[in-house]
Amino acid sequence: MAEFPLKHVYEAQQFDRNLLDTVFQVADDMKRDMEEGGRRYGQALAGRIMASLFYEPSTRTRFSFEAAMLRLGGSIITTENAREFSSAAKGESLYDSTRIMNGYADIIVMRHHEAGSAEKAAQVSAAPVINAGDGAGQHPTQALLDLYTIKDHFAEVNKLKVAMVGDLKYGRTVRSLSYLLTKYSGIQIFFVSPSVCRMESDIKGYLDKEGVPWEEGTDLDSVLPRVDCVYMTRIQRERFIVPEDYDQAVGKYILTPEKVMKMKADAIIMHPLPRLNEIPQAVDADPRAHYFEQAQNGLYIRMALLCLLLNAA
Ligand code: CP
Repeated sequence: MAEFPLKHVYEAQQFDRNLLDTVFQVADDMKRDMEEGGRRYGQALAGRIMASLFYEPSTRTRFSFEAAMLRLGGSIITTENAREFSSAAKGESLYDSTRIMNGYADIIVMRHHEAGSAEKAAQVSAAPVINAGDGAGQHPTQALLDLYTIKDHFAEVNKLKVAMVGDLKYGRTVRSLSYLLTKYSGIQIFFVSPSVCRMESDIKGYLDKEGVPWEEGTDLDSVLPRVDCVYMTRIQRERFIVPEDYDQAVGKYILTPEKVMKMKADAIIMHPLPRLNEIPQAVDADPRAHYFEQAQNGLYIRMALLCLLLNAA
């Protein structure tokens, strides 16, 4: 395979259709190989070290990246809660921490509380840096696995209608996914959110520039029958500056089984997780629920990215 042109992954705009197709094809290979016992890729990253630097909590992203590295025969160095237990707690700059990790690791996976931090780290890092979520900025690897899940279900992404629901102001996953959806034709996006956490104007401006039609509103019921994908999100208490805004937003959108009945028969329900009450467990058995499969796909996408960035695919 030709050399992967990206050195780092810090934002979704870095991916064009060709790159998306490459990542998805390698992810397919990874999935198939794992099902066959890892004969082809099980030692692909033997001798390589991944630094897992998470300054914010994570279950899926951190564990799937770490599992991906281990499944590929590589090793991990990490710390619990880098904000508290790395020297960041003593005031070390991200610049210094990144330069130091370059001496210890071949690739750095970083979740940070400040938007733009992964790109800043990438600018001073010889080792590839992967953004595992930067504040309310972006979560590009989540968007890749989201799109991979959509593509896996529908085969064709073009012409899909996607509703993004919930915390669109602080939700980095919906921001990154919006960027990636512009790489397909005939896409329509419906933003459904409380008025206090609407999608930001930079994303709407990008969609306008790329010719992707979008609508914005607060009424979920009227959108549900119209879309192919309902992408629910959690209202993120930890990002709200005004507590009253959180109180106004929380609990507004709950995709109950009754609401799911309004959806098309072949539509899908997605969620980056973690969820609170926005999708009750009663919906999990509905064949349209795809959020656990979505989280599982994170493993294959992240295996693919590690191999591509380390030229081992
Ligand atoms: N989807 C996601 O980023 O989940 P975690 O916060 O658990 O990593």
